[in-house]
Amino acid sequence: MAAQRIAVIGTGYVGLTTAACFARLGHNVVGADVDEAKVAALSRAEVSLHEPALAEIVAEELRSGRLRFAHGLPGTLSEVDFVFLAVPTPTGNDGAADLTAVSTVLAQLREQISPRCVVVVKSTVPVGTVDRIVASLGRTTVVANPEFLREGHAVEDFLHPQRVVVGSADKHAARKVARLYAGTDAPVLMTSSASAELVKYASNCFLAMKLSYVNTLAELCEELGADISDVAEGMRLDQRVGSSFLTPGPGWGGSCLPKDTKALLSTSAAAEVDFPLLDATIATNARQAHRVTDKIRKAAGGALSGVHVGLLGLTFKAGTDDIRDSPALAVAELLAAEGALLTGYDPCVPTGRQVGAVRVVASPYAVAEGASVLAVLTEWPEFAELDWSRVTSAAPHPVIVDTRGLLPASKVAEAGLTLVSVGRRDRREK
Ligand code: UDX
Repeated sequence: MAAQRIAVIGTGYVGLTTAACFARLGHNVVGADVDEAKVAALSRAEVSLHEPALAEIVAEELRSGRLRFAHGLPGTLSEVDFVFLAVPTPTGNDGAADLTAVSTVLAQLREQISPRCVVVVKSTVPVGTVDRIVASLGRTTVVANPEFLREGHAVEDFLHPQRVVVGSADKHAARKVARLYAGTDAPVLMTSSASAELVKYASNCFLAMKLSYVNTLAELCEELGADISDVAEGMRLDQRVGSSFLTPGPGWGGSCLPKDTKALLSTSAAAEVDFPLLDATIATNARQAHRVTDKIRKAAGGALSGVHVGLLGLTFKAGTDDIRDSPALAVAELLAAEGALLTGYDPCVPTGRQVGAVRVVASPYAVAEGASVLAVLTEWPEFAELDWSRVTSAAPHPVIVDTRGLLPASKVAEAGLTLVSVGRRDRREK
């Protein structure tokens, strides 16, 4: 496909990755954002997002001339072949997706884009949104093209997607969007806009359901004396189950799964379709933070008031600096509500600041200083390689709750630490 002229509205981790990678695929791209300071920084190839390879691609494509950034809507909007909407669609107060940003951008661009320009909805939007945009813009060239980018893997997932989903009643417009991805090696699903919009929610909610399922299995293992890591391994050997999203944790978080599960539940309620599996998925996740808090309270001897608890990991998962909807911070809130005194360390969270009730310190050993209980809440690999004797000497009451099943049990025990794990009965528990 010849180089196309693309505008991407919104330069968050989805929009910036989309703009940079489309330029890398040979297209001419302008990334637009309302945040003037962000646009100025991006134009200097300063990328604040913790996304491997993204800063390098932005720098290279700025130099190649295929990528540039604009504050507000670009003046060349009338000339572009595609406009991608990559603006936030956060959870509204009723759980449904808040489409204010989408509506605002559409109202601004409707008079500026050419009749043949294709409007592509990259943002995660409720089913039926593209149909409503078609009606409001009075054009058929509107296409749903949901993103499947994992934070911390956004560039990899864009350039090597497992699938490209394109949905529109206008098959010509849909094919033009599909061709933009010609440089990737992914299967392309061409479908209706409603199906394309639903695939995104369906996938994310399935992943969340899988995690809530494995987190409850872990709780059952503790009661039955089974071992969740072996049970998960046994499940992984069945290819129909799949090998990922079977590791228990303090719950699932981030900027997508919590938002998308609530949004799909809201969509189902509006369609008067009961979705008890999704209800239970969300309820199980909310309960997970309380279960972890119970474990930490028990490890502290039964009460948390005035107890110093050291948290290892604050981000919602390893490999990102994102603390939005982090399960680690949900646990921290519950601990603080019972009077615990919290310090925390995370390799991707700046030290010397307060994050909620957590005082962020410079190292995992500083977290251990004076701590009655330590808790691993994010699966940063470095937490599996700590100098355990140093941890033991720093923590007067060396008990560590490992909510991620990350720690080497024998090394931790050898260093004199008591390990409380998830999904297996601890040796010390009768
Ligand atoms: C998710 C989807 O994976 C991605 O396809 C979509 O485009 C955006 O939302 P992301 O939000 O980056 O990506 O996080 P993800 O990697 O899916 O992890 C979500 C949560 O599940 C994290 O809190 C993570 O710690 C947790 N998790 C994941 C587990 O607890 N156990 C696992 O085995 C995997």
